[in-house]
Amino acid sequence: MRYAHITGWGKFIPERVMTNDDMAKLVNTSDGWIRKMTGIGQRHLVGPKDSCATMATAAALEALDVANISAAQIGMIIVATSTPDYAFPSTACLVQDALGADNAGAFDLSAACSGFIYALGMAADAIKAKSVDYALVIGSEVMSRVLDWTDRNTCVLFGDGAGAVVLQGSDQPGGVLSTVLRADGSGGDMLYVRSNYNSMPETVQAAEVVQSNGGPGSEAPSCNGYLKMNGREVFRFATRILEHATRDVMYRAGWQADEIDVFVPHQANIRIIDSAAHALGIPTEKVFSNIEHYGNTSAASIPIAICEAASLGRLRPNDKVVMVGFGAGLTWGAAAVEWGTPRILNRTNRTLNRVRLGAAGMRSRARRAWRRMEDRLAGADDTTHSPPKAPHPSHSHEKSNNGHSTDPVPTEKVPLKAEERDASKL
Ligand SMILES: CC(C)(COP(=O)(O)OP(=O)(O)OC[C@H]1O[C@@H](n2cnc3c(N)ncnc32)[C@H](O)[C@@H]1OP(=O)(O)O)[C@@H](O)C(=O)NCCC(=O)NCCS
Repeated sequence: MRYAHITGWGKFIPERVMTNDDMAKLVNTSDGWIRKMTGIGQRHLVGPKDSCATMATAAALEALDVANISAAQIGMIIVATSTPDYAFPSTACLVQDALGADNAGAFDLSAACSGFIYALGMAADAIKAKSVDYALVIGSEVMSRVLDWTDRNTCVLFGDGAGAVVLQGSDQPGGVLSTVLRADGSGGDMLYVRSNYNSMPETVQAAEVVQSNGGPGSEAPSCNGYLKMNGREVFRFATRILEHATRDVMYRAGWQADEIDVFVPHQANIRIIDSAAHALGIPTEKVFSNIEHYGNTSAASIPIAICEAASLGRLRPNDKVVMVGFGAGLTWGAAAVEWGTPRILNRTNRTLNRVRLGAAGMRSRARRAWRRMEDRLAGADDTTHSPPKAPHPSHSHEKSNNGHSTDPVPTEKVPLKAEERDASKL
């Protein structure tokens, strides 16, 4: 029998910090209210050179180092994201190109904050079915670009970042033992972001939604691409579903609640986490939470938490770990994972991956140049406009004022246009 073990982990957190006090300069809120109601103390926001793909690549590179494997060994890359750089190509393809992961299939997965658990489940199943031996599972989000920075109900809750794990096939029992992936689309109107590429006039869209009585609710959704949320409803759903999904996945793994060593829930609100842990009878010391530092980073929240828990020595060999997420869709999911043995970092593979990264950039440019030359030789018109380029993670490390922002207003108050995103990557 084949098992899928987590053998590598990495994260990328943008340098720029926005504290609750910074937030209070922007909307009518306070550090006291945000901490009391959510547990959030600050969040990190991308700089002009960061993107979903640059963060995903940086996190993936760290995970490859920990797993001590080369990018060429990866057979599958899944990026869970709701804030990709492009509708297509997928962020996963940009990561594949940047890493030089020549033997990998790559695709994005959209399941909002549950995306990482969904991707983990898909990749683990591919490994168990022997389709691939190694998979990279990444959650990367630029939530700051879909937030309405005038809406205190939502803008205080989210942050940016990326986390990644390497899954490795093995005959040794352990790893991802069971997963639960579920959805209830009837709750789509509780939390949504409308697509920016839908450029029909607002009135036409509103008429269509009302006519079809579909889409997110009977009320006409906003067309501006900002996140909309019914906080109360989401809160109620989340507290119920965290407990339910955790019980479900424990049952499938044959575990009891008192056997759980580490509980890693989606970091949306400390009150939701505490309520679920209490209902499950899981003591506080077994719950991992870092929401105070990062806010809700959507699909990135669980892999960032895993990465931190592992770095802090909170995950020990053979620990029984439950990860559980929920989010827009509505979606939810959980994974029961028996933690593997720690990896020894091998400097050779680390160096090789850095060399490969440089070579991948050159190879990518050479391939583009070659395609352009072929086009010219064939007499074709050059109709390519600003093609997507693989990101370089080194672009993402921007320090400003010890990471603290002096300007409370985020650099991008509205989602970037495609050309701006291209420019920000170069
Ligand atoms: C957002 C959340 C903290 C709000 O808590 P709540 O108890 O539901 O509060 P309400 O939305 O009913 O608002 C209560 C009051 O606080 C106010 N308020 C909302 N946001 C505020 C803020 N950032 N600062 C100060 N006051 C705020 C509201 O305007 C309201 O004021 P009013 O009574 O004068 O009208 C809570 O609903 C929540 O966490 N929901 C889940 C959100 C989530 O996790 N989403 C992501 C899922 S992946």
